[in-house]
Amino acid sequence: MTHHVLITGASQGAGKATALRFAREGWDVTLAAREGDRLTAVAQQIRALGRQAVAVPTDIGSETQVTALVEESVQVLGEVDVLINNAGICLTGPTVNTSLEDWKRILDTNLWGCIYTTHALLPAMLRRGKGQIINVGSFGGKMPLPEMTAYCTSKYALTGLTESLRLELAPKGIHVGIVHPGVINSDFLERAQFRGKDDTDANQRQRQMAETLKAGWVSQPEDIANAVWKAVEQRQAEVVVGPAAIATELNRLFPQLTQWALAKGVGG
Ligand SMILES: NC(=O)c1ccc[n+]([C@@H]2O[C@H](COP(=O)([O-])OP(=O)(O)OC[C@H]3O[C@@H](n4cnc5c(N)ncnc54)[C@H](OP(=O)(O)O)[C@@H]3O)[C@@H](O)[C@H]2O)c1
Repeated sequence: MTHHVLITGASQGAGKATALRFAREGWDVTLAAREGDRLTAVAQQIRALGRQAVAVPTDIGSETQVTALVEESVQVLGEVDVLINNAGICLTGPTVNTSLEDWKRILDTNLWGCIYTTHALLPAMLRRGKGQIINVGSFGGKMPLPEMTAYCTSKYALTGLTESLRLELAPKGIHVGIVHPGVINSDFLERAQFRGKDDTDANQRQRQMAETLKAGWVSQPEDIANAVWKAVEQRQAEVVVGPAAIATELNRLFPQLTQWALAKGVGG
């Protein structure tokens, strides 16, 4: 029997790599992201692999659009076996330079998007007594990162959502897991927002991030795809990918030392 996975943020980066990974494993895929052309291109790649794909342009920060996404997905490919909440955006900069619009955009995408999809799909999963929800978090959802407060707020909230929901749904046959990437050499700079005391400061932060992405230790989108696949196959509760596993473990064991070093890094 063919399985069906719905993946948000599936047009680029880790989401696209995950969609192709599931297709290669024989799954049919619903793809969601805002921009339609890139989604259609991924859907064509999946069909070339012999699987079915439906591409639904969706802003996951909109409840109405997520409802329409789920309706079309189920109508075309049948019940969703696995939901992967991957879409996310990044925001870097001092909190004092973070506007309320910035806060709203990041929480709408990184948190409310996951709430909308979960809310729309959970009744069917409960009715069937099976299903999986895998959220893509961040090492910034397990340890504090200075000057990434809005981003960490969204990802810590996602960690709490995941862990509480897992306890609630495990007795009902539904698995809820979370994959925490470190830095990924993906397409996130296209839509990441950099804030600073002025444009020069914000541009400097963007250049620093672009340099970081060239480092050898940075994860590739396929690393996240493999972690998500493993989380589903082995019903893992939490996976921290790559060097982020060392950073989060150091923070767990030596929080004062780790956080002192992090604060020093931003001149604290
Ligand atoms: N990149 C990193 O270093 C890093 C580190 C830790 C965690 N993560 C997390 O890993 C996940 C994947 O990141 P990535 O680096 O692969 O990102 P990416 O390359 O920027 O891709 C993001 C995907 O999400 C979609 N998306 C963004 N906003 C959306 C919205 N409002 N509605 C629907 N789709 C939306 C984008 O398409 P459209 O723009 O067309 O909508 C795109 O398909 C995210 O949750 C991110 O927070 C990333």
